[in-house]
Amino acid sequence: ERQIFITRHGESMDNVTGRIGGDAPLSEKGRKYARALERFVSQQRASFAYDLASRKVKEEDDWRSYGLEPLDGKKESETIDTRTTQEKIDAKAKELSSGQFTVWTSMLKRSMATAANFDPDVYDIKHIRFLNEINSGMREGMSYEEIQRFYPEEFHTRQSNKLYYRYPGMGGESYIDVIHRLQSMIIELERMTQSCLIVTHRVVMRIILGYMLDWSQKEMPHMLVPIHTVYELRPKPYGTELKKWQYIE
Ligand code: G3H
Repeated sequence: ERQIFITRHGESMDNVTGRIGGDAPLSEKGRKYARALERFVSQQRASFAYDLASRKVKEEDDWRSYGLEPLDGKKESETIDTRTTQEKIDAKAKELSSGQFTVWTSMLKRSMATAANFDPDVYDIKHIRFLNEINSGMREGMSYEEIQRFYPEEFHTRQSNKLYYRYPGMGGESYIDVIHRLQSMIIELERMTQSCLIVTHRVVMRIILGYMLDWSQKEMPHMLVPIHTVYELRPKPYGTELKKWQYIE
């Protein structure tokens, strides 16, 4: 069992002025979110390990009550385990919470700064270009109001077909382009067994959540996915469980 946390970067200076694209730093509010995120994930990680440990130790005690000693993973030894149930849970929780935990961010400043409070000795931190926000080509740095005012047709075409609309200009992308560049990340996410946190951007989040939660391609580009909200996904045999937390200052 593992936890997958996913969030957008904290509020950036461009979010404050309503501009898309770019590589702006975090605002003061965004930096506060970054601090809260580290505390939240560390606490969630510890309580997840504790719940898992209690379940495992209690399961073993159940077997014992039927006269069966679970031997998996135990060294052949004559030593009798004299620890209390609580001591066994604490030791198991400690072992589980020291397991590997990966933090992925994009390579944009606002995303890297949102993960800057995570201790690299405790978390395996990686910055990955594939997780960057959609490239809005010639519309980078503009607000939606400006695009609507100066390029009304373009604005309308995109609103009516966000999935296939590609921003004009060098490097400009569509949602489909972003889906393609995310394919290897999604395969890696499904393959890995350890828990992780992904700090990324709205379009990338819509695509990853859409894939994991089975959102239709029609609704996916229009899902809200606000900033300062942490989504937790737990893959289960019958589908993915979702929990959400909103940060309130
Ligand atoms: O800067 C990128 C925006 O967050 C993308 O949102 O696809 O709804 O325009 P949008």
